[in-house]
Amino acid sequence: MAGVDATESDTLYALMRQRYGASWTPASDAAGAADASVNDVIGTMLKHRSVRAFADRALPDDILQTIAAAAQSASTSSNLQAWSVVAIRDSQRKARLAAHAGNQKHVANAPLLLVFIADLSRLRRLSDAQSMQGLGLDYLEAFLVAVADASFAAQNTVVALESLGLGCCYIGGMRNQPEAVAQELSLPPEAFAVFGLTVGYPDPAVVTDIKPRLPASVVLHVERYEPESGAALADYDATMNEFQRLQQMQEWKWTAQASRRVRGPEALSGRDRLVEALRTLGFGLK
Ligand SMILES: Cc1cc2nc3c(=O)[nH]c(=O)nc-3n(C[C@H](O)[C@H](O)[C@H](O)COP(=O)(O)O)c2cc1C
Repeated sequence: MAGVDATESDTLYALMRQRYGASWTPASDAAGAADASVNDVIGTMLKHRSVRAFADRALPDDILQTIAAAAQSASTSSNLQAWSVVAIRDSQRKARLAAHAGNQKHVANAPLLLVFIADLSRLRRLSDAQSMQGLGLDYLEAFLVAVADASFAAQNTVVALESLGLGCCYIGGMRNQPEAVAQELSLPPEAFAVFGLTVGYPDPAVVTDIKPRLPASVVLHVERYEPESGAALADYDATMNEFQRLQQMQEWKWTAQASRRVRGPEALSGRDRLVEALRTLGFGLK
C-alpha cells in the first residue's frame, strides 16, 4: 500500500481514513462540511509514522540549529526549561546506546540520535549559585515538570523534522538502563534520559504506512469522562488487523497486545526498577 500521495490524497478525509481506518466517517456535526485540503501543519501531523529504516543520505548542515529552535519553541512549565537534549552522531556511542536500549539496530543505524533529558541539574546549579536551597527540586512535581518539558520539546522536534521530509522514531528503550545511559552521556546528577529519538531520511525502499489509532470517541470525552464501549475497541482490533494484513505482519488484536504489554514487571524491559534508578541518579521524588 502506498504512503500518502501529496498531490491527490492530502484532503482531510483521506488522511482521516488513513489515521482511523477505511471505515472512518465524518462526525454527524461535520456532515456537509467541505472535504477541504488540510493545512501543512495538520497534514504533517496526520501523516506521522515512525521510521526505523534510513536512507544513506546526509542530513542538512544546519539540522541541529533547526532542531534546537523547534524544540525550544515548545511551551515549558513556568518557563523553567527543565530539559536538555544530547545529539549523537558518533557511531560507537550510538552502538553502545543501542545496546543499552535493548539492542535496537535502528538506533545504531540512524545518522543522528537525539536523547531528550529531563534536566533538573541546571536549576540546581543556578539555585546553588543564588545561595538558594532549591528544595522544590526534590519533589515528584519537579521531575514531572522536567519529563513533560522534555516531551513537549521532543514532539515539536518530530513535527519540525517530518515537515522537512525526515523521519523519526522515539526510543523508550533508553530507559531500560538509566544509569548506563547517564554514564555514557556524562549526565550530571538530577538529569535523566527520558527517551531517544532517531533521525534520518526514510529509506525509500521501505514503505511504512500510517498506523491507525483508536477511534476518536474512545479518547475524546465531552464534558465528562465516559469509559469506551466494547464495540469501539472491537472496531479498532479489526482496523489494526487490516493494517497488519496490508503490512504483512502477524495479526494480533490490539486489546490483547496492549494488555500483554502491561501484564507485569517482566514485560517492562528493566524499567520496573525505574524509581530506584532515578533515586540513584539524584532525584528526590518526594
Ligand atoms: C515514548 C515512546 C517510546 C517509544 N519507544 C520505542 C522504541 O524503543 N523502539 C521502537 O521501535 N519504537 C518506539 N516507539 C514508537 C512506537 O512504537 C510508535 O510510536 C507506535 O507504535 C505508533 O506508531 P507510529 O509512531 O508509526 O504511528 C516509542 C514511541 C514513544 C512515544
